[in-house]
Amino acid sequence: MKRNTIRTIKKLKEDGEKITVLTGYDYMWGNCLDNAGVDIILVGDSLGNTVLGYDTTCPVTMEDMIRHSAAVVRGSEKALILIDMPFMSYVTSEDAVKNAGRLIAETGGQAVKLEGGLEFAPMVRKIVENGIPVCAHIGLRPQSVNIQGYNTQGIDYIDKIKLKEDALALQDAGAFMIVLEKMDFDLAAEITDMLDIPTIGIGSGQRCDGQVLVIHDILGLFDKFVPPFVKQYANLRGEIIKAAKAYIDDVKGNVYPEK
Ligand code: KIV
Repeated sequence: MKRNTIRTIKKLKEDGEKITVLTGYDYMWGNCLDNAGVDIILVGDSLGNTVLGYDTTCPVTMEDMIRHSAAVVRGSEKALILIDMPFMSYVTSEDAVKNAGRLIAETGGQAVKLEGGLEFAPMVRKIVENGIPVCAHIGLRPQSVNIQGYNTQGIDYIDKIKLKEDALALQDAGAFMIVLEKMDFDLAAEITDMLDIPTIGIGSGQRCDGQVLVIHDILGLFDKFVPPFVKQYANLRGEIIKAAKAYIDDVKGNVYPEK
């Protein structure tokens, strides 16, 4: 079966069909999410929090992203695999091209995502010129937590203007899609109407072209903070603990194995 491509994603927007994105971090997630039919699996650097147990995404390395992304690719057949560029891996255009190239060549993924506004348009342009599709990411940028915190973005007039300029510059630089994270809902809708490329919202309201969420959040797997905009579809953490406890009881009580 052929994978979704950036053309598939463009067509979804043209047809007015919402684009679905979920994060996935290894073979099993790649396999389950692909079977569910999600359009894009994002190997997010949120794996720093969900898989590696860091407080922020800043310690995530190129090697982390490569190992996890390659496993997601092996587990999936249809979804487009979008890979986050780690913190500090795209500070110059040269770094950006070299590291985006590694993420694609060493994993089999199809596209990369980087966080940042118009200051990063030159890096986006250079990566795209080298044949790699780029998804931009503005609004709340978790790699900039030490500057932004985790606050809603685009509240005051100056911020709104800047975010609109960012979105236009990134589209102009060749980004095929843009994530709008935790942004004022009306601003996200305005940016969506303004751009030709699809917008993917996370905590930015309904009027984006698609939505992305962290898989651990929607499945109730994460015991720490869950953002208020997340809808939880299951409580798998509770189920896992229940099953593990039942196994422990069986072994301790000589119930398993039966003979
Ligand atoms: O790393 C990540 O999971 C992300 C999404 C939440 C947008 O960047």
